[in-house]
Amino acid sequence: MKISRNTARLKPSATMAVSARAQALKAQGRHILSLSVGEPDFPTPGHICAAAKEALDAGFTHYTPVPGLPELLDAAAGYFNRFYDAGASRDNIIVGNGGKHCIYNVFACLLDPGDEALVPAPYWVSYPPMVELTGATAVIVPAPAEKNFKVDPDMLEAHLTPRTRMLVLNSPSNPTGVCYTRAELDALASWAVDRKLVVLSDEIYDRLTYGGVQAQSLCSWWKRIPEHFVIINGLSKTFAMTGWRLGYTLAAPELIKAMNRLQGQSTSNVCSIAQKAGVAALNGDYSAVETMRAAFERRRALALRVISGWPDVFCPEPEGAFYCFPDVHRHYGAAFADSVSLCSYLLDEVGVAVVPGAAFGDDRCIRISYAVSDDTLSEALEKIGRVLSRERGRP
Ligand SMILES: Cc1ncc(COP(=O)(O)O)c(C=O)c1O
Repeated sequence: MKISRNTARLKPSATMAVSARAQALKAQGRHILSLSVGEPDFPTPGHICAAAKEALDAGFTHYTPVPGLPELLDAAAGYFNRFYDAGASRDNIIVGNGGKHCIYNVFACLLDPGDEALVPAPYWVSYPPMVELTGATAVIVPAPAEKNFKVDPDMLEAHLTPRTRMLVLNSPSNPTGVCYTRAELDALASWAVDRKLVVLSDEIYDRLTYGGVQAQSLCSWWKRIPEHFVIINGLSKTFAMTGWRLGYTLAAPELIKAMNRLQGQSTSNVCSIAQKAGVAALNGDYSAVETMRAAFERRRALALRVISGWPDVFCPEPEGAFYCFPDVHRHYGAAFADSVSLCSYLLDEVGVAVVPGAAFGDDRCIRISYAVSDDTLSEALEKIGRVLSRERGRP
């Protein structure tokens, strides 16, 4: 069978590939510690599950409007208004099957073949392939650890061409955990508006920040110039709802209408029961969110304490999400040449799953998720530390 060129060249998601390999080794009876996960290790809070059960018991099992139930659109708009004074209404929202689906649909609605989108690296694994599925090109703008993994307008300007249409931002970031400050974000937004670009701001980790840092949103820019900004959020990370597949987009009505047409001809509405759960989550009590955030904050401290003891490793302090992204490249050499071979070694030889930085556009790093129990985290980090200490100074 001939697979289309577009999909034939798609690589499997590296994070999912590592998780699958870790699962396979576990199934063989190996003791595997996985720090490769991109999801909270907590159950979905009870009141959210109860809303889903109620929906099911009430027979709420049919199609809903394509962009989402009106009450869910209101709840998502209400989220942006409550935290960011966005001035959003239901006409500015569409609900998709996770933030992932929303992001893909935004690219599909805004990019044509030949267009370019600026994607700062380290990036979330799916941005470049999603851009390229539209026939556009993802132009990678490297922001190494020494730059605290952040881009500035000069770095973007160096990659601007007459074909540039979009800029993709993700703060707090997966994989680095880095958060842009208000001033940094404003400088990037202003630069992008001056160049008539559309900024896609993926703010899916905005409730998970640490050390007193507040996630900064581009909602204020969207409120003033909606045609230049698209904001992505979702319930996966905030409410430990990865499996429910609920994400939402805040955008100008013109883009929402285009996404609605695309969704109407492809996936239609998100699961009706999940939508009811989403309403309960967004409009309900956020104390479980704070409990999870506090646990991540404690684990972040644990991880940073251990990683800071690793020889020849530099790890900018993550302020959000649930990842550390240490630069370990000084250990590359005879034993492992790059992040992929280091991660293969760690998984196969010491039973620890972490994701190669190459998958996120920075081969010098590895991604460590601390969305795991304290015990798993301590044991796994100790094992990685032992490998790095042993390999130190090897030719
Ligand atoms: C930065 C970022 N954006 C979007 C997503 C998509 O999440 P979901 O589709 O579960 O809402 C993820 C998930 O890992 C992510 O890390």
